[in-house]
Amino acid sequence: MAHDHDHKHDHDHKHDHKHKYGHGHDHGDIDWAEMAPLLESEAELFTPLYERALNWLAKEVTEPGLIVDAGSGPGVISCLFAETFPGARVLAVDGSEPLLERARDRAGRQGVGDRFDTLTGELPDALGELDYPADLLWASRSVHHLGDQGAALAACAERLAPGGTLAVMEGGLPPRFLPRDIGFGRPGLQARIDAVQEERFGRMRAELPGSVAVVEDWPALLTSAGLRHTRSRTFLLDLPAPATDRARAHVITVLTRTREVIGEDLDADDRATLDRLLDPADKASVHHRPDVFVLSAHTVHTATRPV
Ligand SMILES: C[S@@+](CC[C@H](N)C(=O)[O-])C[C@H]1O[C@@H](n2cnc3c(N)ncnc32)[C@H](O)[C@@H]1O
Repeated sequence: MAHDHDHKHDHDHKHDHKHKYGHGHDHGDIDWAEMAPLLESEAELFTPLYERALNWLAKEVTEPGLIVDAGSGPGVISCLFAETFPGARVLAVDGSEPLLERARDRAGRQGVGDRFDTLTGELPDALGELDYPADLLWASRSVHHLGDQGAALAACAERLAPGGTLAVMEGGLPPRFLPRDIGFGRPGLQARIDAVQEERFGRMRAELPGSVAVVEDWPALLTSAGLRHTRSRTFLLDLPAPATDRARAHVITVLTRTREVIGEDLDADDRATLDRLLDPADKASVHHRPDVFVLSAHTVHTATRPV
């Protein structure tokens, strides 16, 4: 299962940078503001995937008045919503004000600032502050950061207008950046990295305040939240080799964080392989090798509130 490669695996365990949201509660150990440039450049690289997802949603959701992006981060997707739905107001909600500042700046730059607002607050409670029910509520890779995912989805569902749609982007596949055999080290490095990251993800979830274990069957969770007509669809980001500079930079960033965060959990051979891959002086590193690519899949689950 790929929860995403939002650096949850790569960046979520910053025990030295406890970050507090909202009303002073401790909400895990991720410093989201510190991750702002990463989140923003990653979302920019993934824009073709999001555009396809939003175009799919546009066929399902006609003329929404209010779109809420819950856990928007720096607002790359929120601004795509504003672009895809020119008649809608977009509200980006997040616990991190520095990320929302980026979202507002982006909306201004893109000329949609007049119908773009932000709300800083802890999810899911912040949704209680909405002035109007949402016609479309989007939450990408944010619900898995909330302790009680079922309760969070129920809170989202409650904030929908009758007939409104909740769209949750969760799951998919772990990303791939390299062939299985890269010519040195033991083949299958990324699969072993995935296994370590799954363990870390489980610990991250278990340590969240109010953590509740659920079967991560998103359509079933949406149904339990009182919604109907569940649909799931997976969207691919396929940036084949030869990688553009931007795609290569993304791979370098992700693998660098992987090395920092889980390097010690890999065996010595894999650690040495990763070090070689990250050494700019090595022609076989991801800085230079011609076979680097980005292949990633994210799943969107939708459901509607009964009229
Ligand atoms: C992985 S990022 C996803 C950002 C964006 N939705 C995307 O898909 O690129 C998760 C976002 O959820 C926000 N978040 C995580 N836990 C939160 C909480 N308890 N309350 C409010 N926001 C939270 C973080 O600040 C971060 O912006």
